[in-house]
Amino acid sequence: MTTDQYILAIESSCDETSVAVLKNGKELLSNIIASQVESHKRFGGVVPEVASRHHVEVITTCIEDALSEAGVVASDLDAVAVTYGPGLVGALLVGMAAAKAFAWAHGLPLIPVNHMAGHLMAAREVEELEYPLLALLVSGGHTELVYVTAPGEYHIVGETRDDAVGEAYDKVGRVMGLTYPAGREIDELAHKGQDVYQFPRAMIKEDHLEFSFSGLKSAFINLHHNAQQKGEDLVLEDLCASFQAAVLDILLAKTKKALERYPVNTLVVAGGVAANQGLRERLAEEIRDVKVIIPPLRLCGDNAGMIAYAAAVEYDKGNFASLDLNAKPSLAFDYLEN
Ligand code: KG4
Ligand code: ZN
Repeated sequence: MTTDQYILAIESSCDETSVAVLKNGKELLSNIIASQVESHKRFGGVVPEVASRHHVEVITTCIEDALSEAGVVASDLDAVAVTYGPGLVGALLVGMAAAKAFAWAHGLPLIPVNHMAGHLMAAREVEELEYPLLALLVSGGHTELVYVTAPGEYHIVGETRDDAVGEAYDKVGRVMGLTYPAGREIDELAHKGQDVYQFPRAMIKEDHLEFSFSGLKSAFINLHHNAQQKGEDLVLEDLCASFQAAVLDILLAKTKKALERYPVNTLVVAGGVAANQGLRERLAEEIRDVKVIIPPLRLCGDNAGMIAYAAAVEYDKGNFASLDLNAKPSLAFDYLEN
């Protein structure tokens, strides 16, 4: 009789179909990721209908591969976890239908997981977290500072009023003619340039924890457009370095302010943009009084392993959903006034 616990997790909120198996809440046995990014590149962004169709095509194979790579069968499992928001509704529904069918067929409880909780809890791959903690979550759709008071208790203390950081990277990347998603390439080019264009750092001195990136994006687009009209050449590396310097100044300033307001011992930095080398360097240089935990690169982008890590916390709390669980495209943590 085995006492080991196994959770199967499914993620399909955007353009990655992913299935993972987590053992005893802490050992990732498999994490299959089928990326559709090649299909969306030519459109310069994710096309929702195309995303849903791709998920349908690969979800079953991903589940089979995750189980076989983990060396477990359905009867070994204790629960099935699934992302139910935030994300594209059609994309979410594919993973949810698969998770519900699997849970029903094998008599397993269903664990609903918030995608952003997944990004955050990917940090558990590095080490077990201590609470309370603060998290800076930076992805393609979200930019938020989250105060986590206890396992599974997430409260937003600051967020973007307009664009998310990843979204800003992808938009300026498009203006420069880079391929989608552009974050990684901009990061690489930024390391070869200088901050010569001095873009605005919105709300950096203001005493709240909110972010804004749309002004930075507009300033970038205007500079690029004006130069084009005048036939002037801009240095790509310097453009990237200037954009990234502005983004990082804003992220670091607000994170430091949050750490002053919420004294904690741990800062988690997660989400697709947490893969940014410039951000990692600045955090290492400037955040010295608290422990900074960043998930490994393979767990920064969307994946089901992170969903499994968040699900294990919900499993311990007995947070299960019934089979009429619906997708919540704009699911969000509660907002803590400060
Ligand atoms: O978390 P994620 O995989 O998907 C969402 O939940 O949105 O984040 C994707 C975002 C994209 O906007 C991508 O450009 C950005 O993460 N990204 C980066 C880097 N790698 C990925 N942004 C900046 N620097 C990077 N190295
Ligand atoms: Zn994500």
